[in-house]
Amino acid sequence: MNIAVLGTGRVGSTLGARLTSRGHRVLYGSRTPTGPDQFDHRNAVTSSDLIVTALPGNDVLGVLSEIGDEVLGDKILLDPSATVTPQTSAAHTGDGVAVRVQTRFPRTRVVKALNTMNFAIMVDPLTSVPAATVFVSGDDVAAKTVIIGLLGDLGWPDASIIDLGGIDTAAATEQIGSLYFAIARALGDTRFNLAVSR
Ligand SMILES: NC(=O)c1ccc[n+]([C@@H]2O[C@H](COP(=O)([O-])OP(=O)(O)OC[C@H]3O[C@@H](n4cnc5c(N)ncnc54)[C@H](OP(=O)(O)O)[C@@H]3O)[C@@H](O)[C@H]2O)c1
Repeated sequence: MNIAVLGTGRVGSTLGARLTSRGHRVLYGSRTPTGPDQFDHRNAVTSSDLIVTALPGNDVLGVLSEIGDEVLGDKILLDPSATVTPQTSAAHTGDGVAVRVQTRFPRTRVVKALNTMNFAIMVDPLTSVPAATVFVSGDDVAAKTVIIGLLGDLGWPDASIIDLGGIDTAAATEQIGSLYFAIARALGDTRFNLAVSR
C-alpha cells in the first residue's frame, strides 16, 4: 500500500520505518521535504491510499485543510495524534481531534488508534511490555479492517486490539492523555502501556 505519513518526527519516522520494512511504500509529508521519500503534504497524500497524521494535535486540521477535501476524498486516515500542552499534560477539549477531522471531512474515513502509548511501543507492543492494548475508533468498518491489518504489520496481535466503535469513541482515548502523562511522571519512564485485562 502507498502510505502518506504526514510529519517526520518521532511517530512519523518510527511508523514509517516499520511500515517500509513490511513492504509498504511510505511517502513522508513534510513542511520542509528533503530526500527522495519526502514531499509536501499535498503531493504525499495525492499519491497514497492511506494517510497517517503524525502531527501535533493542534496542527492536524490546519494541515488537512491546506491539502483540501478533493485530495483527501474518501481515503482512509489514521490519526495517532494527541493535543499536548507545554506542561506535557493532554489538553483535551470537547470532541477531540479525530471527531473534528471527521466532521470537517465527512467523506474521509478517519480511524483513531495508537494515541495512548509512547511511539516506541507503537511498533514494539509486546517486546517492551508484557501486556498491551491498542484502541481503534472509526465510523467506517472497512477502513477499520484496513487499519487493524496495518496494526498487525506493526506487531499488534488481534487479541491486543479493541475496536471501541464509532469515531465518537476517539474522544475517550484522547482523554487518556492526562492519565498517560501522570503515569509517566510517576514512573519516570514512558516504557509502559495501558492494557485491558479480563
Ligand atoms: N511521541 C510519542 O510517543 C507520541 C505518542 C502518542 C501520540 N503522539 C502524538 O503523535 C503526534 C506526533 O508526535 P511526535 O512525537 O512524532 O512529534 P514530533 O516529534 O514533534 O514530530 C511532529 C512532526 O510534525 C511536523 N510538525 C511540527 N509542527 C508542525 C506544524 N506547526 N505544522 C505542521 N507540521 C508540523 C514536523 O514534521 P516536518 O518538520 O517534517 O513538517 C514534526 O517533525 C503528536 O500529535 C503527538 O502528540 C506522540
